[in-house]
Amino acid sequence: MNVLDIGGGFRGRYVERPTIEENAEVINQCLDDYFPEAGGVKIIAEPGRYLVETAVSTAANIIGRKLIYDNDKSSIVHVMYIINDEAYGTFAWVKEVTEVFVMSPVLNKASTENHHSTVWGPTCCGTDCLATETDMPLPLMEVGEWVQISYAGSYSFSCSTNFNSMPRPRLYYFCSSDTWYVISMSDWVY
Ligand SMILES: Cc1ncc(COP(=O)(O)O)c(C=O)c1O
Repeated sequence: MNVLDIGGGFRGRYVERPTIEENAEVINQCLDDYFPEAGGVKIIAEPGRYLVETAVSTAANIIGRKLIYDNDKSSIVHVMYIINDEAYGTFAWVKEVTEVFVMSPVLNKASTENHHSTVWGPTCCGTDCLATETDMPLPLMEVGEWVQISYAGSYSFSCSTNFNSMPRPRLYYFCSSDTWYVISMSDWVY
């Protein structure tokens, strides 16, 4: 045996446990025990989400909203939002990797009162639910407002389809001017 590939599975977004340090401690101990350096086995890893999960955020537009009131119609008990991206588009990972969908308004809202909300994609498919009301307390937003969905760097665009003729999202690249300066000074940029 010449190469040991320990694969991926390390989280990029903050998770309470296990931290990357806790992962590393266990892995390094096992490598020392079972694959000591003297054995000459080359060890590689394939960290996917660890590297790219937090690198991308998605912007989506609210294209529909339904308010559900309590019995005497005095207060909102639940808000349903439909956005213009979906579980068959950028958000395949919501179902496949069973991640929590983290969505927030792009503009800071004056109102801080949150409502239990569900978020749906536009495909009319019953499984195109991106967040259930237990996941998602949100300030009341209007149709036409933009929302941001974080942690879309992995299993997102690469897994997207144009199911029901929905267009794939457009990609825009951003970096700080300092980072761009460093990149543009590098030899490997043509
Ligand atoms: C061969 C291979 N290596 C590594 C990864 C990355 O996995 P993760 O994102 O869990 O780190 C994948 C993901 O599909 C993979 O197919």
